[in-house]
Amino acid sequence: MDKNNLILAGSTIAIASMLLLAHSESGQAEVKKGLTANPVVKEKGVESRNEEWAKYYPREYDSWKNTKKNDKIDDQLKKNPQLAVLWAGYAFAKDYNAPRGHFYAVQDVTNSLRTGAPIDAVTGPLPTACWSCKSPDVPRVMEEVGELEYFTGKWAKYGQEIVNPIGCADCHDSKTAELTLTRPYLKKGLEATGVKLDNVSTQEMRTFVCAQCHSEYYFKKTEWTDKDGTAKTAMVVKFPWDNGLSVEDMEKYYDDIAFSDWTHQISKTPMLKAQHPDYEMFTKGIHARRGLACADCHMPTIQEGSDKYSSHHIQSPLDDVANTCLNCHQETEAEFREVVEIKLAKKEQLAKFAMDNLAKAHLEAGEAWRLGAKEEEMKDILQDIRHGQWKWDMAVAGHGSFFHAPDETLRLLSVANEQGQTARIKLVKVLAKYGAIDYVAPDFSTKEKAQALAEVEMIKLINEKDKFKGSLLQEWNKQAVEKGILNLDSRKGMSDNTSYGTQDGKDKDKK
Ligand code: HEC
Ligand code: HEC
Ligand code: HEC
Ligand code: HEC
Repeated sequence: MDKNNLILAGSTIAIASMLLLAHSESGQAEVKKGLTANPVVKEKGVESRNEEWAKYYPREYDSWKNTKKNDKIDDQLKKNPQLAVLWAGYAFAKDYNAPRGHFYAVQDVTNSLRTGAPIDAVTGPLPTACWSCKSPDVPRVMEEVGELEYFTGKWAKYGQEIVNPIGCADCHDSKTAELTLTRPYLKKGLEATGVKLDNVSTQEMRTFVCAQCHSEYYFKKTEWTDKDGTAKTAMVVKFPWDNGLSVEDMEKYYDDIAFSDWTHQISKTPMLKAQHPDYEMFTKGIHARRGLACADCHMPTIQEGSDKYSSHHIQSPLDDVANTCLNCHQETEAEFREVVEIKLAKKEQLAKFAMDNLAKAHLEAGEAWRLGAKEEEMKDILQDIRHGQWKWDMAVAGHGSFFHAPDETLRLLSVANEQGQTARIKLVKVLAKYGAIDYVAPDFSTKEKAQALAEVEMIKLINEKDKFKGSLLQEWNKQAVEKGILNLDSRKGMSDNTSYGTQDGKDKDKK
C-alpha cells in the first residue's frame, strides 16, 4: 500500500468510528424517546403473535415480514455430497439446507427430515430443545411451564404450542418493548465468559439478541423432580463456553466431559457437531474488535421522510450494500461484492480439501474395523478425526463466518485438513497391517451415492414425513388456532418448499 492509500484507509476508518458513535447515540436517544410513548403490547407474559405487535409498530413489522422474501431452498447435501458421509448415523445426513428468512423457521424445522414423522406427543426422535431457536412461543411456553419442563420430552410435545416464527418477542420485552434476552441459556453462557448481565450496553444487546440462537450449543442431560415429585430427564440447551469462546476452548470443554453428539456410523468416532456458531466466530473478526454489532450490518437504519427505524428485514447485507457497508466504507458497491466473493471462494477451496480428507478418513477407518483392527490401534486416529471434523464444522456451520472472521475461518480449515490427513496417514499403516494397503474409499461424489454409504433411506423418510404433514401437523395447527395462539392469515402465501419435495409448486424430482 502506498502512502496515499494509507491516508485514505485511515480516513475511512475515522469516518467509520464517527458513524458508529453517531449511530449508537442518536439511535439510543430515539428509541428512548419512542419508548415513553410506547404502548404495552401485553401487560403480563409473552406476546408471541407478531401480528399483535404490528398494530403498534407497523414499520418494524412490515420490514420483518420481508424476511419472507428469501424462500429459496439451498440443499447443502446436494452441493457438498461429502456431508452425508461426514454425518453418517446423524440426522443431518438426511436433510440439511442453508439458512433462509426468519419467517420460515417453524416451517423448516417441521418440514426437515431431521425431525422425523412423529405420530403423537411422545414419539421421537428429537427432544423439545429443537424448537428453541425457532419461535417467540419458546419463551412464552418456558414462562408458562418452567425451563426444565420445557426441556423435558420429545419435540412433538409442543407441536400445537410453537407455531409463530422468530419474531418480536424473541428479542423484545412484551411490556416495555425494550431489547431483552429471552433465552436463559444465553444468559448463563455469557456469565460463564465474564459478562455482567446488569451492565450490558445497547450496542452489546444489538449482538446478544442474535447470539441467543446464532451460537454453538449442546444438549445437557439433566435429571430433575417436578412439583408432584415425579422424576424427569430434561435435555437442556447449554453453550460450551466455560473455557472461552475459541474453537480450541470449546473442544477442550467437550473433551474434558467426554461429550459426543453421536457415534459415527462408519468410523465409530465419538463425534462433535458444530451448530451455527455465528456469534463465537464473529467475535474473532476485525468488525467485532472495532465495536460493531450484528445489527449494524443486518438491521441498518432506514430513513423514511423525517422518521428513522431499524430495518427488521434481516438478510444478507449484500442485498443492501448502500445502507450497510457504505455507511462506513468508501468503495463502490461492486468492489464490496467482489471483496466478499473472493473471501467466499477461498473458504470453499479449503473447505473442499478438508471435507474430502475427513470423509475418506471415515471410510478408511470403517474398512480398518471391518478387517479386524483393534481399539488401541484406532484410538488416536479417531481422536484426529473428531478434532479435525470439529474444526471444519466450526469454520463452515456459521454461513457468514468466511466474512465475519476470514482469517480464523481459513486457519480452522487448514488445521482440519491437517488433522484429517494425519488420520489418513496413520490409517495407511493399519490398513497395510491387515493386508489392504491398496484400499480406495468408495465414490461419494453425489448426494445419492453418499447417502447410500450412510444408509439413509430417503424414500421411506419422505413417505413418513408426508403422512405426518397430512395428519398430526394438521391437528397441531387446528389446536393452535382454537387456543388463539396462531392466526392462519399470518401464513398466507407461504410456499411449502423443501429439499426433497416441491419447489415453487412444481414437483422437481418428477419433472
Ligand atoms: C432478532 C431480534 C429482533 C427481532 C426478531 C425483532 N427486533 Fe425489533 N429491534 C431489534 C434490534 C437489535 C433493534 C435496534 C435496537 C437499538 O439499536 O437500540 C430493534 C429495534 C426495534 C424498535 C425501536 C425502533 C427502531 O426501529 O429502531 C422497535 C419499535 C422494534 N424493534 C419493534 C419490533 C417488532 C414490532 C418486531 C416484530 C415484528 C421486532 N422488533 C422484531 C431486534 C429485533
Ligand atoms: C430465535 C432464534 C433466532 C434469533 C433471535 C435470531 N436468529 Fe437469525 N436465524 C435463526 C434461524 C433458525 C434461521 C434459519 C431459518 C430457516 O432457514 O428457516 C436464521 C436465519 C438467519 C439469516 C439468514 C437469512 C437469509 O435470508 O438468508 C440471517 C442473516 C440471520 N438469521 C441473522 C440474524 C441476526 C443478525 C440476528 C439478530 C439481530 C438474528 N439472526 C436473530 C434463528 C434466530
Ligand atoms: C459501522 C461501520 C462498518 C460497517 C457497516 C461495515 N464496516 Fe467493514 N470495517 C469497519 C471497520 C472499523 C473496519 C476495520 C478497519 C481496521 O481497523 O483495519 C472494517 C474492515 C473491513 C474490511 C477489512 C478487514 C477484512 O475483514 O478483510 C473489509 C473487507 C470490510 N470491512 C468489508 C465490509 C463489508 C463488505 C461491509 C458490509 C457488509 C462492511 N465492511 C460494513 C467498519 C464497518
Ligand atoms: C460488518 C458487517 C457484518 C456484521 C457486523 C455481521 N455480519 Fe453477518 N454477514 C455479513 C456478510 C457480508 C455476510 C455474507 C452474506 C452473503 O454471503 O451473501 C454475512 C452472513 C451472515 C449469515 C449467513 C447468511 C446466509 O444466508 O448465508 C448469518 C446467519 C449472519 N451473517 C449472522 C450474523 C450475526 C449473528 C452477527 C453478529 C454476531 C453478524 N452476522 C454480524 C456481514 C456482517
